[in-house]
Amino acid sequence: MPDLGNLSEQRQPLECRVALVSNDRDLSSNWVNALNATAAQHENPFGLRFESVTTAALEKHLREQDRLQALIIDGGCSTEELSNAEELADRMHDLRAQLNVFLVAQNSFLSTQGGAPASVRKRFDELFDRREGNFNHMFRLVQAFIARRASTPFADTLKEYVFSARDAWHTPGHSGGDSLRNSPWVGDFYRFMGEHVFNTDLSVSVQVLDSLLEPHSVIQEAQDLAAQAFGAQHSFFLTNGTSTANKVVIQQILGGGGKIIVDQACHKSVHHAVIMNRCEPIYLKSTLHPEFGIYGPVRRADIEQALDEHPDAGLLVITSCTYDGLRYDLKPIIDCAHERGVKVLIDEAWYAHGYFHTELRPTALECGADYVTQSTHKMLSAFSQASMIHVQDPDFDEYRFRENLNMYASTSPQYLMIASLDVARKQMVMEGYGCLRHCLQMVETLRREVDATGVFRALTLDDLIPAPLAGDNIRLDPTKVTIDVTASGYSGKEIQVKLFDQFGIQVEKTTYNTVSVLVTLGSTESKLLRLVHAFKQLARQPRRRSHAVTARQLPEFTRLTCLPADAYFAETEELPLMDNGVLAEKKLVGRTCADEIVPYPPGIPVLVPGQEISAQIVQFLQQLLQGQTATEIHGLIFRSDEPMLRVVCEPKKSSGDNVKKGVKKDG
Ligand SMILES: Cc1ncc(COP(=O)(O)O)c(C=O)c1O
Repeated sequence: MPDLGNLSEQRQPLECRVALVSNDRDLSSNWVNALNATAAQHENPFGLRFESVTTAALEKHLREQDRLQALIIDGGCSTEELSNAEELADRMHDLRAQLNVFLVAQNSFLSTQGGAPASVRKRFDELFDRREGNFNHMFRLVQAFIARRASTPFADTLKEYVFSARDAWHTPGHSGGDSLRNSPWVGDFYRFMGEHVFNTDLSVSVQVLDSLLEPHSVIQEAQDLAAQAFGAQHSFFLTNGTSTANKVVIQQILGGGGKIIVDQACHKSVHHAVIMNRCEPIYLKSTLHPEFGIYGPVRRADIEQALDEHPDAGLLVITSCTYDGLRYDLKPIIDCAHERGVKVLIDEAWYAHGYFHTELRPTALECGADYVTQSTHKMLSAFSQASMIHVQDPDFDEYRFRENLNMYASTSPQYLMIASLDVARKQMVMEGYGCLRHCLQMVETLRREVDATGVFRALTLDDLIPAPLAGDNIRLDPTKVTIDVTASGYSGKEIQVKLFDQFGIQVEKTTYNTVSVLVTLGSTESKLLRLVHAFKQLARQPRRRSHAVTARQLPEFTRLTCLPADAYFAETEELPLMDNGVLAEKKLVGRTCADEIVPYPPGIPVLVPGQEISAQIVQFLQQLLQGQTATEIHGLIFRSDEPMLRVVCEPKKSSGDNVKKGVKKDG
């Protein structure tokens, strides 16, 4: 039986560079020659090649050599040389955290009974004695470490299982696609999707594939590898997105209630968790860039003030980076929260790639976050909905976490998604640095070419930072490129349509005067060429007279009259938002909203459940509904096309005749 199960088999021959880092020329050339000779005599599926690099040349080598997979650092023969090697290992970890690092040293500690000091064990994967020169053993050990990183325990087992072709007498009902394959009605769907979509769609009945809800074998191994890869103490896979990941973490810390300090512009899953867990939210106001209609991070001073005023909060939740790529300087914020005993969840839905390139670090975990949620599917190679939660909370209660996670998880997880998480992690540890280096080069070309059109302009960090954030050391994730289209005279939406209709290009999102594209691992030179060509062509087309747009500032937050949960589940009535303007305002002002009302764009709530409605808010929503540009307003209820707001019944009115099942309709 051929080995059909090993996903490590590759189309292109692999090449793994291993650098022996030493300033001792004799040792270096002898060892490199001996190790390469050993590699030539042994099975070498990863294509290990040893090379010598001096300490002075190492940093440049790490920045430029994408295929580097391991370092063997010469720790010399003295305590001083050893501490230099430790320092070097730390610096190199800051550049490329994924590499395996080995130490060669001639020192008494390597052979003492107590073993190597903790400082050495912490930094190096394995130790070799400088005098020994057992090159067979060294080669095998380096190869074994690389093989472990390159393994995909879950994806391999899934593939093996499929090729073992067992008969299925279990869910799902399509039974490996057999229900569709020969059907004259739906066989086309089977052929379109491809056999492996169906025969990898299995169930918990298949025990060799472990259980996502109680993992002990291949899923647990894959999660352990993910924790190592992303720099976490524990990592957990989710097959229903970061929307669920956020809810799990909030329930873990605040299940049953408690104060949460939260960016009002956070993802709606966080708002939902606030309701579901009966939390008391302390809202942080995010900054608006008036020219581009882009919401940015919260001012650091505002976060610190909220932490000072509410040290009894259980959790701080902020998003870094934002959809537009704005990243906080997280360390001082997280430190400030921890000094007050507040746990920190960073929503890194848009930043799963951050740990794999120097220019994108530090990540939230590196800055000390207790919990980090990431949509592995947004920027990396996982399937949609495949996400991870990374944990490094010193007070982590794994048993409770498992219960909380299982409460939100489906008991029928999609195995394709789990496999894609395993493979996405492997890709990042094995070639993530090189892939991201390529992405960053493409970003530079894109920005240069867009600017060269003279009409479109790729916005810089300075352009994107709202004035109140100056001094907060905000950074930009370069892979999110926001392009100002003002000078074309067209709106972002119109340019989006032109790009799609005329050039077959779909962008990520728009605001009134910007379009944004994501440069991901899947961006290719050809796609870049076509995008640049499209912008050049559009720049040559007749322009309209451009007019400056100022994004509408959201109305001021009023106050919560009760917990969001109390409002959401209260007895409510529906009041019209538009009945001749003044009347609606009169009825609504001072009432408590029961739903989250979110105009899109920008997707930030104007009202949250429990919030008092003001005249300014009513007018704002009325203007949006009457405005020229179509705006979706999530949370409004339409009754015969009439927009209604659900508000909490006032105590005296709750016994009226027309109150039905907790919902009363006006008029
Ligand atoms: C900041 C943020 N958090 C969480 C999510 C939810 O992620 P997912 O789509 O993986 O459920 C999103 C989705 O866009 C998001 O923008």
